[in-house]
Amino acid sequence: MKGKLITFEGIDGSGKTTVASLLHEKIGKDAILTAEPTSSWLGECVRRALEEERDAVTIALLFLADRNEHVKEIVRYIEDGKIVICDRFIDSTFAYQKEHLKIENAEEWLNIVHKPFLIKPDLTFLLYIEPEKAIERIKERKLAIYEYVEFLRKVQENYMEIAQRDKNRVIIIDATKRPEEIVEECIKILRERGII
Ligand code: TYD
Repeated sequence: MKGKLITFEGIDGSGKTTVASLLHEKIGKDAILTAEPTSSWLGECVRRALEEERDAVTIALLFLADRNEHVKEIVRYIEDGKIVICDRFIDSTFAYQKEHLKIENAEEWLNIVHKPFLIKPDLTFLLYIEPEKAIERIKERKLAIYEYVEFLRKVQENYMEIAQRDKNRVIIIDATKRPEEIVEECIKILRERGII
């Protein structure tokens, strides 16, 4: 049987990384935990470009290059019957780059560039938290390029639009709950959908 791709999305500080790794622990041995930007040298390039606050088009192309390689890896896992849990995937690009790219028809451009390698997640958990609360959670660390309230509010709006358009795939989760509670909720939904 083919595997499935489950993604976690949400603004910075929504707690996706904690929840994704907790879910991975609970689901066990047949699940793969991965993330974007990836841990490969391409992912490193993305992080460097973000740190250096490079041009938005440069950053977008690097995210896409990283994804193109990552998709090949994910497809291999799925063909092997694995459940792949991915901390950020395409919806991050449509939520963040759509806002950062100051080009006309950014969404259309992103769709066209994605075409040769686009795969859709089977299910996406969108962790919802108010941007002020999210920033409060992460303010102890050095804040990165996208980590300010006004920007994250726009990103959140883009996420909500995606969720509205793709109701069956994107499940909105209250990210202010405890991670353990969130994971239980995710497991319940995954069972209902026959994914686990
Ligand atoms: P993040 O998940 O915070 O990675 P890490 O924990 O390794 O720092 O992602 C880094 C930033 O990249 C975050 O602000 C969201 C942003 N991002 C995009 O803008 N587009 C994308 O396609 C992806 C995957 C991430």
